[in-house]
Amino acid sequence: MSLLSVDHVSRHFGGVVAVSDAAFEIEPGIVFGLIGPNGAGKTTVVNLITGYFAPTAGAIIFDGGSVAGVSPFKLAARGLARTFQNLQLFEGVTVLENVLIGRHLAFRGKRWQLLGTRSREEKTQRAFALDLLKQLNLESLADADASSLPYGVRRRVEIARALAVEPKLLLLDEPTAGMTRKESDDIGELIKSVNATGVTVLLVDHNVRLVTAVCDRVAVMDWGETIVEGEPAAVWRDQRVKDAYLGTGRSARLAEADEFVVDAQAFAAAAASNEGAVHDQD
Ligand SMILES: Nc1ncnc2c1ncn2[C@@H]1O[C@H](COP(=O)(O)OP(=O)(O)O)[C@@H](O)[C@H]1O
Ligand SMILES: [Mg+2]
Repeated sequence: MSLLSVDHVSRHFGGVVAVSDAAFEIEPGIVFGLIGPNGAGKTTVVNLITGYFAPTAGAIIFDGGSVAGVSPFKLAARGLARTFQNLQLFEGVTVLENVLIGRHLAFRGKRWQLLGTRSREEKTQRAFALDLLKQLNLESLADADASSLPYGVRRRVEIARALAVEPKLLLLDEPTAGMTRKESDDIGELIKSVNATGVTVLLVDHNVRLVTAVCDRVAVMDWGETIVEGEPAAVWRDQRVKDAYLGTGRSARLAEADEFVVDAQAFAAAAASNEGAVHDQD
């Protein structure tokens, strides 16, 4: 059974159709890429899955239950965690506190209170959070003010905070936006190591190289619809995807950022290098 099923979902905002028909399934244990030109509806899909908006039509089933009408915090406690395209950390508190607050918000009234006395509970949670920071090579920064850190590190802290709820599915909305190549390669390694611990990942990213390196399956959105779904190498070769990215598609005309120019080049390179670009599943 799939861990996540997005079943012909749409979302309108007044007259704006942000998502017209998103449809895909994510099998447990994989890294699933969701790509597409700017404005294609990717962030809206993430917001729909994680309970920030309700679909106008269609159904979203996570881990056997509908997400309809469930708040983001309740969904986090059920195993759905995310990061934001526009990085969101708790400001003025430490890295460790960011992780602890993320965990507390999801689990308040649940595990948190089952753990015994207050000080014992705090110790247990602190140990958990420090362990998590260690996994992400952030332990030396546990007591640093999160807002004082470089952007690339803050992105990692945001991922740590999402992992604090011990998610089954982790959704990352453009985690490498604005990063250097080295920083985004590091995020790729991080995604692989998190996935190796059994966490299923949905990755929204423009970086074709990264998506090819880490994703088992990819869905492409254009103009509010998922147009193609498959293994990365097959997806890059698909004419509909080339059209969407390389100028003949509708959304391509909407893409204006410099970032898109880089994408189109990386995309062309990936498409040209064929099997050479395929991520070895082992
Ligand atoms: N809250 C909103 N209100 C109105 N329009 C929105 C809202 N959220 C997204 N949209 C519109 O929906 C479309 C898809 O946006 P988005 O999901 O952010 O795309 P992507 O993440 O693929 O760049 C865009 O045209 C955007 O302006
Ligand atoms: Mg977006």
